Amino acid sequence: MNKTVTIDFAKTAFADAYVPAGESTHPQSLLDLPPGEARESLLAVHAVLAGSLPPSRLAIYEAGGGSTSFLPLEVLRRAHVTVVDIDEDQIRNNDYAQETILGDVQSHRFDPGSFDLVICYNVIEHLPDVEAALHRFCESLKQGGLILIGAPNPKSLSGVVTKYSPHWFHVWFYRHVRGDKRAGEPGQAPFPTFFHPLVTLSKLEDFAAAHGLQMIYRKEYESPRYPEMRARKPVLAALIDAAAYVMNLLLPGKSDVRHGDYHVILRKI
Ligand SMILES: C[S@@+](CC[C@H](N)C(=O)[O-])C[C@H]1O[C@@H](n2cnc3c(N)ncnc32)[C@H](O)[C@@H]1O
Repeated sequence: MNKTVTIDFAKTAFADAYVPAGESTHPQSLLDLPPGEARESLLAVHAVLAGSLPPSRLAIYEAGGGSTSFLPLEVLRRAHVTVVDIDEDQIRNNDYAQETILGDVQSHRFDPGSFDLVICYNVIEHLPDVEAALHRFCESLKQGGLILIGAPNPKSLSGVVTKYSPHWFHVWFYRHVRGDKRAGEPGQAPFPTFFHPLVTLSKLEDFAAAHGLQMIYRKEYESPRYPEMRARKPVLAALIDAAAYVMNLLLPGKSDVRHGDYHVILRKI
């Protein structure tokens, strides 16, 4: 595949909604996403992985894997998964990896050419040195191997609020708006954020081009927090939707400030 692809998987996504993970080919993390752009993009990511990964046994590195994987079950079933995470509780709670390592993804080194896929999902925004982590990922990849990154978009409304608000506000938001009573406890989200410049998609794209990485998938999408909020806190959601609508009208360019997250797949060439 030589160019960036975008696949509309809306129908597939809705067809599988609320199916228990054991009866689906999808991981619970995908089934837990509300119907919408986030889920559609993750399904598109799964389709790209299905078409791009070798059909044999796979070696996968989950960088900051925590206790949740967003990979298709079909891929996980034929993979040896190694997780590196800096948090002891996250490592203890992990039940899908064959190997867990308490370590820092910015400095942990594997033998060169060890992995078919490196996945770093909801992690780069927490790293003070994303460049170091990306170098470690590249070294550890086989030729033709893939890096899947899922991250918040710092140029979106939620990205700006997250970047410039204190950590206690993130904990408050998770507890009172998302309804996660354990938010902020040891090993529980939200984790402190840094938003290194390379989290910005255009800068990540430049880094990829300069370091022999081909971007084969790129999608900015509406953060799943919006559909969640519309269901849980409709008045607050309506106010934020109205504010986003006005910002979209006033800001130059055609980007949607609700596009709070992105997926990127890079191939080592
Ligand atoms: C928001 S969680 C995401 C976990 C999982 N990837 C997911 O999507 O559910 C962020 C994870 O990154 C880990 N993390 C943060 N900084 C790290 C670092 N420098 N090295 C390794 N893991 C790190 C945290 O401990 C946490 O498990």
